[in-house]
Amino acid sequence: MNKFEISRRRSIEALAGFLAGSPLLSGQIDPIRDHARVPGIKELLTAFEFEAVMYAKQTRAVYNYRAYGEESEFTLRRNRLAFDWVKLAENKAGTSNTGSATVDTSTEIFGTKMAFPILVSPTALHGDLDKDGEQSTHKGAAAASNTPMILSNNSSLSFDKVMSAASSPMWVQLYPKQAMDANKAYLEPAIAQGAKAVVVTVDQLATVYERSQHDRNLNATGGGRGRFGGGGPVPAGNPYRISVGRLWYEWKFFEELRTFVKVPIVIKGILTAEDAKLALEHGVDGIYVSNHGGRSLDYGPSTLEVLPEIVDAVGGKVPVLFDSGLRRGADVLKALALGANAVCLGRVPLWGLGSYGVTGVTRVLEIMQAEFVQAMLQTGCTRLSAINRKIVLANFP
Ligand code: LAC
Repeated sequence: MNKFEISRRRSIEALAGFLAGSPLLSGQIDPIRDHARVPGIKELLTAFEFEAVMYAKQTRAVYNYRAYGEESEFTLRRNRLAFDWVKLAENKAGTSNTGSATVDTSTEIFGTKMAFPILVSPTALHGDLDKDGEQSTHKGAAAASNTPMILSNNSSLSFDKVMSAASSPMWVQLYPKQAMDANKAYLEPAIAQGAKAVVVTVDQLATVYERSQHDRNLNATGGGRGRFGGGGPVPAGNPYRISVGRLWYEWKFFEELRTFVKVPIVIKGILTAEDAKLALEHGVDGIYVSNHGGRSLDYGPSTLEVLPEIVDAVGGKVPVLFDSGLRRGADVLKALALGANAVCLGRVPLWGLGSYGVTGVTRVLEIMQAEFVQAMLQTGCTRLSAINRKIVLANFP
């Protein structure tokens, strides 16, 4: 057969293609029919399901910015795997139970009272996901048993605007700036307006944000923020794709910050016992174990794997916070069992916000809280002080 002859198969294919594109047939093909419908909020049972709804409702670039991790995303995956590597012990009746019919999940860190040991991690640009940005997140968190919220340094709205939206406690996050006046100008008003603690993120020195850079043409907002977390633009001619904004970090920054910050200072992004000890030597009031949700150093460890050695190094001197990878109440329990005083949730409330706004944030946090209580009961813990290493068996590779 020469190339100008048409085979029987080809002609059927051509006819099928013609019919598929024909207006006659399009009246019978419902383009929506075979797509899964977006479920209503009451149908969602787990945090994971909120991610799927957010994916359906937001643009690809806006979704991607929240979804990705650094480079090949192994640490992003490892953060989840790590929870699979920790077994929970069965409930041996009476082991840690007080015989009480109620479960007490309340705690207090730096004078911030919490109904559950769960806060909202600082995450950027909620205005991409909801027209009222972080005000909606704050309202949603407050409605979920007054969950405290840490406002990102890269928020869509100013601290006072977010603070005024609801009554749950707020802390404020800072990306260190080399000019101390710039830190002062950002932090002093936030503290005056009620920020109960300052969280200083130190783990984004040379991030590249590949997925965001690929997405830069997908949407005018939300996707094209290459290197957003990495400290500003890359200088022209820089062959390493590294911005200059964060290459000056020194431990003495914390002593300098202390001269004008009178509320507790927490260092976020600690992954080794050695750094935890150094941070304490430089006067921080809290250690926040985080790998930025797998967005900083690919092939770094998961946070759960390094948590015990950091907790041992801190030795109860200051509170230890924890994030990266938590999606279940049982994950919260495991982190507490390995020594965290409280956990923070980054993507989970974003999925709530990006799917159902204020009510989505509330509902997804309530699901995490309910699962946490269930996991406590299954392991025989009716109060936070009963949660300890005996209820877990960690088998990290
Ligand atoms: C990020 C920065 C902004 O993770 O914290 O995108």
